[in-house]
Amino acid sequence: MIDNTIIRAKHLTKHFRDFWRRPKVAAVQDVSLDVQRGEVFGLLGPNGSGKSTTIKMILGLLHPTNGTLTVLGHDPRDVKTKSRVGYLPEESYLYPYLTAEETLNFYGKLFDLSPTVRETRIQQLLEMIGLSHARRRTVGEFSKGMMRRIGNSHRR
Ligand SMILES: Nc1ncnc2c1ncn2[C@@H]1O[C@H](COP(=O)(O)OP(=O)(O)OP(=O)(O)O)[C@@H](O)[C@H]1O
Ligand SMILES: [Mg+2]
Repeated sequence: MIDNTIIRAKHLTKHFRDFWRRPKVAAVQDVSLDVQRGEVFGLLGPNGSGKSTTIKMILGLLHPTNGTLTVLGHDPRDVKTKSRVGYLPEESYLYPYLTAEETLNFYGKLFDLSPTVRETRIQQLLEMIGLSHARRRTVGEFSKGMMRRIGNSHRR
């Protein structure tokens, strides 16, 4: 049987410690959840309730204090897993003087895509996010929504 579980957390716990390694904040306490393929899953809660900390553990940026976590069946810190994960942070750090096209070209180069592949992908992506008309404009002058679109597209 194919396992359609994309994210599986069992008793996930994260305690931040102080300089002397004494527990300081119980940021995430005993969270168990499964996210299935194709599911849209929202993590809701008051400020400081541990949402970002949970996401950081799913991305493999923070190591859980307790519990187990798998993403696509592997440890979230696994490099193979990372290549299949897209993440749009609250703020995208884009180079303001690059145009939309140049921004995507830059990330394409980081992923070692050939010039011809980059060329077609960039046009496809700009079309998909509805920013073809703005491809020659610098992202520094983009509106908030346009910035979110371009910030998400270079992670696909
Ligand atoms: N690096 C850290 N060191 C110490 N404490 C931290 C660290 N990161 C988060 N915390 C603490 O962990 C708790 C959960 O924080 P987290 O950022 O996960 O909350 P959140 O649910 O994302 O909140 P918000 O809705 O404000 O984004 C908070 O008490 C926070 O102060
Ligand atoms: Mg947060």
